[in-house]
Amino acid sequence: MVEDIVTKFKELYKTEPVVARSPGRVNLIGEHTDYNEGFVLPAAINKEIYFALAPNGGSIMRAYAYDLEESAEFDLNNVQRSEIGWANYLLGVVAQLQKANYEVKGFDVVFGGNIPIGAGLSSSAAVECGLAYALNYLYAYGIERFDLVKMAQKAEHEYALVMCGIMDQFASMFGKRNHVVKLDCRSLEYQYYPFNIDHYRIVLCDTQVKHSLASTEYNTRRQECETGVAMLQKLYPQVNSLRDVTEQMLESHKDEFDPVVYRRCRYVVQENLRVEDACLDLERGDLKAFGQKMFASHQGLQHDYEVSCPELDFLADRAREFDGVLGSRMMGGGFGGCTINLVQLDKLDEFTRQMTAAYQQQYNITLKTYVAEIVDGSSLVPIDFSKTSR
Ligand code: GLA
Repeated sequence: MVEDIVTKFKELYKTEPVVARSPGRVNLIGEHTDYNEGFVLPAAINKEIYFALAPNGGSIMRAYAYDLEESAEFDLNNVQRSEIGWANYLLGVVAQLQKANYEVKGFDVVFGGNIPIGAGLSSSAAVECGLAYALNYLYAYGIERFDLVKMAQKAEHEYALVMCGIMDQFASMFGKRNHVVKLDCRSLEYQYYPFNIDHYRIVLCDTQVKHSLASTEYNTRRQECETGVAMLQKLYPQVNSLRDVTEQMLESHKDEFDPVVYRRCRYVVQENLRVEDACLDLERGDLKAFGQKMFASHQGLQHDYEVSCPELDFLADRAREFDGVLGSRMMGGGFGGCTINLVQLDKLDEFTRQMTAAYQQQYNITLKTYVAEIVDGSSLVPIDFSKTSR
């Protein structure tokens, strides 16, 4: 894959590029907690986007999207949102660098990879992080990794117009091979946990649906959480976010809440506790207990936070019934995308077979499944250029 991208680059731009990669992510537990200053537990996975790029001596960005076979050019002296969807992820990053007073000289770029789009594996974050990482290297800006993460997140807000939290970009940039990483989205402190699952695998079941509600409902959830915080703040001035809220606080004022807002808040408060408990499970090596928290997370997302959909519920229910699954839940923003499952290695084939058959029968859609391996975050890729010429 990476060789194809480099070959394409050389064919188009007649020079040898710098090559970087940035991965997609899974999230084991801690959903819709990032923008509530809570905890998340993601990992970078072996679905990645590669970037080949080199300066071109001018002041334009010439970009080629390998998977779409589309190209476009942009004047870097006048960066603004584009009609071309994929270009906005690149332009958004350039705009953030410029905003922070870094000079972005003209460059050529070819990018592409194997992260399925719209499956909830954060292909957009991987594109943003990959370009930010590559430009930081190419032009030796010396920007810290965490600042690149924040720029990538801002790019998503301002150019993709999605008000995401920080998890996806953080995971793509900070992933570590065979580890999950717990991020405290308030302090931005993080801790790696070895994810020793020798006899199990992380299996993603892709519903292949993306309900149109997804982005509007995402923003609605953010607002509902803010409504809950505003109300509690009047009673408890120390409350700045749902992170500061306890179950007791919620319970003792239940009647004063709009019932929907109450359930949203309860879910977030409980999910934060689950992430902390799940990390203790990992420390104890108790994967079974860890998996139980994944099931509980799904229940909360389905019934209290209401960001699931029938297809995700169906897959999570079937997985729960399957002997050999430790945990299963919807993953990411919701309303489609994938479930994440911890599946016993020697039952992997049977799991895939049964899930595929059940999903086919129910929805007449051929399920896609991926076995995810946990890899390092954004990095350079050493290239043997002799292997890339045609
Ligand atoms: C999307 C967002 C993340 C996070 C998840 C839900 O993936 O990009 O920031 O909010 O949804 O956990």
